Amino acid sequence: MLNVILAGLGVRGRHWAQVIQRSKRAALAALVDPSAEALARALAEFGERPAFNSVAAALDALEDVDAIVLANPPMRREDIILLACARNLPLLIEKPLALDLEEASRLVAIAEAAGVSLMVGLNFRYLAVTQAKRRLLAERTVGAVEFARFTYERWRDGRRPDLNDYPLVMDQPMLWEQSIHHFDLMRYVYRREPLQVQCQSWNPSWSMYAGDSNVAALFEFEGGLRVNYQGVWQGNWAAPGFEWRSDCTDGIISQREEFGALFYARRDETALTPVALPPHERWISETRALFDAFVGHVVDGAVLQCSGRDHLRSLAMLEACIQSSASGSRVHIRDVLTRTGEF
Ligand SMILES: NC(=O)c1ccc[n+]([C@@H]2O[C@H](COP(=O)([O-])OP(=O)(O)OC[C@H]3O[C@@H](n4cnc5c(N)ncnc54)[C@H](O)[C@@H]3O)[C@@H](O)[C@H]2O)c1
Repeated sequence: MLNVILAGLGVRGRHWAQVIQRSKRAALAALVDPSAEALARALAEFGERPAFNSVAAALDALEDVDAIVLANPPMRREDIILLACARNLPLLIEKPLALDLEEASRLVAIAEAAGVSLMVGLNFRYLAVTQAKRRLLAERTVGAVEFARFTYERWRDGRRPDLNDYPLVMDQPMLWEQSIHHFDLMRYVYRREPLQVQCQSWNPSWSMYAGDSNVAALFEFEGGLRVNYQGVWQGNWAAPGFEWRSDCTDGIISQREEFGALFYARRDETALTPVALPPHERWISETRALFDAFVGHVVDGAVLQCSGRDHLRSLAMLEACIQSSASGSRVHIRDVLTRTGEF
């Protein structure tokens, strides 16, 4: 049994508590949150167990700990990572690792220097729809991809009690909190690295966010693949919109919902062919698969997936978008990585 400390008991931490509690290979050894209210709510929801207001206090009190899952906001994580490294505890940390590529790069270096595994919580990689799309592309069901359009539209009410609210005052909330998943998925599904981007981010007049809530970006990936991205947190319709369409040499692949709805069609076919996907419990099924991969690495020695080092390449896409939007110029991802010493 892997004894896990879960730190951060907000919206995401409560998904994690369910996943760890339901795992046959792990136990929820302790809960950590500086908010007494969050701790009390989690104890009521997931049962009495050791509870602490900091990771340091939990590690001082507990002997038998094997890993830490960190679901606090992506600020000031360094002290916790240093504590985990001092105890040689593997870490599974929510995305984005930090709100700055340089800081993220430092955190990865700290863990690597200590020989501690650091996995990032990129749960969307583990959706059945993502895996199926990756297979369609690998098997060239409709040939090889040449360009794509990724559209994510939402009116995200940052004041809703079941959503985190710190993005309301962040710089670039859409990019750091949401687009990071989309950019990571592009790299993962297409198995190619991005080369350059031209981007604009902006806030519409009705935005409730202090920083830019909307992003449009045109990426070029290795092999000439173009991906045209529009991600908005402040569209002006509460009903969400999603389509990720990949145009390939023999036809298209179209994902029409964030968590499923996968189709393909050859050029002359009038109807889309649906791809059968297994039933899915949102936020739980894919997080369980992510957690299984973490346990497989820590306990069975399987290769570490979603490593912190790999994550830096997706974070570089964000930084490139921010730079491009500020300067009005195209930005090469390699230059961003070189400036942070990552190339
Ligand atoms: N992978 C996903 O699908 C997904 C979904 C939502 C959020 N997230 C990520 O999860 C992280 C947390 O987001 P959230 O929505 O749960 O935010 P939230 O604001 O709802 O909850 C964060 C919790 O962390 C606690 N906290 C703050 N500092 C802490 C510390 N030092 N130690 C322990 N706990 C601390 C807060 O008191 C709060 O209870 C973020 O990185 C976010 O991007 C990921």
